[in-house]
Amino acid sequence: MTAMMEGKKIVLGITGSIAAYKAAVLARGLVKKGAEVQIVITPSGKEFITPVTLSALTGKPVISEFFAQRDGSWHSHVDLGLWADAMVIAPATASTIGKMANGIADNMLITTYLSMKAPVFVAPAMDLDMFAHPSTRRNLDLLRSYGNHIIEPAEGELASHLVGKGRMEEPEQIIEVLEHFFHRQQDLAGRHIVITAGPTYEKIDPVRFIGNYSSGKMGYALAETCARRGAEVTLVSGPVTLKTVHPRIHRIDVESAEQMYQAAKAAFEQADAGILCAAVADFTPSTVADQKIKREKDDLVLHLQPTHDIAAALGHLKQPRQRLVGFALETNDEVLHAQDKLQRKNFDFIVLNSLNDPGAGFRCDTNKITLIDRQQAMSYPLKPKAQVAEDIVDKLAAILE
Ligand code: C5P
Repeated sequence: MTAMMEGKKIVLGITGSIAAYKAAVLARGLVKKGAEVQIVITPSGKEFITPVTLSALTGKPVISEFFAQRDGSWHSHVDLGLWADAMVIAPATASTIGKMANGIADNMLITTYLSMKAPVFVAPAMDLDMFAHPSTRRNLDLLRSYGNHIIEPAEGELASHLVGKGRMEEPEQIIEVLEHFFHRQQDLAGRHIVITAGPTYEKIDPVRFIGNYSSGKMGYALAETCARRGAEVTLVSGPVTLKTVHPRIHRIDVESAEQMYQAAKAAFEQADAGILCAAVADFTPSTVADQKIKREKDDLVLHLQPTHDIAAALGHLKQPRQRLVGFALETNDEVLHAQDKLQRKNFDFIVLNSLNDPGAGFRCDTNKITLIDRQQAMSYPLKPKAQVAEDIVDKLAAILE
């Protein structure tokens, strides 16, 4: 991971905490690792550390006001938001965290934060009671829900001489978090991953079908994550209203379980891994009526026949170099059923989401998962689907040959 910071553009936000002195060490450490560092400091940050020290370390003027004082030129927070590969706010005070959580853009640091396109890392620093206060907890939860990364403060003696949690994480550790993040960003380079997503529609007649509530959000989040981390992705998608953004996602739109089966099977042959996220119909009408079926007095009986189990078929075809990840949505004896599915379909691991958990499963923007392999089951807290996708892809990246 040594060269991970080389050439990276980092916006370092500094706020008014005694830990601001550590930000100088952080800036120096980032520059030594080859990063380009642009510091944005709040007015109270300047009370703790002088911009002269900071600009000497980074070789760039420190930005603190909306306008440069000498010539009145405007500092563009929008340009900074587009320029950066990451933003790190260290130290982050309770006040700045509160403003970030609520969009109170009364200084250059917050406007830069609100314009930021790159991932944001926040290293809180405050006294233990401030850190433990429900408003701080809530604001940090809000930042997490926006997808920001919180670098938890350490326990220890604080500037107030009180002992507890609130001490900003050491600069070396913060750099390690960033290096790990950048490393992870490209850990799937050169890989080819097939992902199935969304529902299938099984035709009854020209205007009716059997479908399900799957939105495709989880599968699309996985496709974006894999592509962003360097993989070529073949996304075999049932009918959904979602769009794909990343140029490395090759999307094949299908409608029925049979079409999904054919497309997934063909793509899997050359792939390094498959993630089977689609909610595939288990049964399909044996015959499709040519004309719209008319209302009649008698009951209508549809004869259904089983579809291909795409997961089991790929599990059967799987070569030793290939990996396969399945999903399970269970309503009872969840872990047992998921373990059984893992064996039967020859998955390397399975993602269990339970309908018993509020905010998990179909149509939600969040999900709560347990990752189960042959050795262990690991449960994760409720998170936005984009972050759940990172957790799943972390595990997949770790087991790829
Ligand atoms: O057996 P069950 O349908 O619950 O298994 C769920 C897993 O199998 C999911 O990964 C789903 O995408 C996959 N599956 C499939 N083809 C089917 C049915 C399920 O790929 N026909």
